[in-house]
Amino acid sequence: MIDLRSDTVTKPTPAMRKAMAEAEVGDDVYGEDPTVNRLQERAAELFSKEAALFVPTGSMGNQIAVKLHTKPGDEVVIEERGHIFNWEMGMPAIASGVTIRPVRAARESGMLTWAEIESALHINMPYYACPTGLICLENTHNFGGGSVMNAAETDEICEKAHQLNLPVHLDGARIFNASVALNEPVADMTRSVDSVQFCLSKGLGAPVGSLLLGTKDFIAEARIWRKRFGGGMRQAGILAAAGLIALEESPAKLATDHENAKKLAEGVAQIKGVSIDPKKVVTNIVIFDVSETDKSSSDICQRLKHDDIHAIPFGNSIRMVTHCDVSSADIDKTLESLEDMLG
Ligand SMILES: Cc1ncc(COP(=O)(O)O)c(C=O)c1O
Repeated sequence: MIDLRSDTVTKPTPAMRKAMAEAEVGDDVYGEDPTVNRLQERAAELFSKEAALFVPTGSMGNQIAVKLHTKPGDEVVIEERGHIFNWEMGMPAIASGVTIRPVRAARESGMLTWAEIESALHINMPYYACPTGLICLENTHNFGGGSVMNAAETDEICEKAHQLNLPVHLDGARIFNASVALNEPVADMTRSVDSVQFCLSKGLGAPVGSLLLGTKDFIAEARIWRKRFGGGMRQAGILAAAGLIALEESPAKLATDHENAKKLAEGVAQIKGVSIDPKKVVTNIVIFDVSETDKSSSDICQRLKHDDIHAIPFGNSIRMVTHCDVSSADIDKTLESLEDMLG
């Protein structure tokens, strides 16, 4: 099976499974799991943030951040295709009592400029306006096609936001992919955001887990909200052990996933009726439009399944994500299958 649906499908490596079996554990709700503590300390060190908290999912990390940065009635500014807005099941409204102000980025990459963000802000407005409480960024931008924002661009947005006393949270589910693509350390890319969440369970290949990072006070509060959200785990060192390996060993492997994605993008761009600019594919996500072919995106994905190739249709487009369990030969097979069907 060639599973290109997402990088969330990655299976733990033998080294991860061994580390999990041998992990030293304790009760993490009491802060007594030595492996979780090591993972949190290492993540904080790598990101040059004061503290980190191990959470079960990226969604939980994001939602705790939304909760802590806002108060009920606030508005959160986010790009229209952003994960927090589209794929976290209305939790900003449910858990934090906030509304979302989605802003469509002019750039196909989904990366907002400060001018676009500024035009959506409600600050210094009459008291009956819905006040902006938070700006959320996403790097890489999943539905922007794995696009990246560099440290300088992130700094500029944060600086302007901070001048207005607005916090910035970064959904950095795939920040290591961005870091590899831009050759910038994750600490630089996140130095000016108030909080960042990144996932161990996507391209880094761990089975479970994300880290939320920020100041010591922010993380102390986040620990309370993690428990309230039902994410207080006990002997979670079993999971953190795999996470530690993911953190140390996996970033160096991401360049291969990016090469495979580029090869896939260049290949599909040759197929009649398929539309994609391979130059824009810089990480591991490939989104291509098939509206000019004689088949719908769902038909194409259905037929790919006959060759045991799995991808997800979204509207007129198909998304394929490369990861450590997809090889260059798998990309060849996928391209062959698509060419047979559409060529
Ligand atoms: C950009 C982005 N943020 C957050 C998440 C949420 O992660 P999780 O599935 O661990 O909740 C995802 C999941 O795919 C994602 O793509």
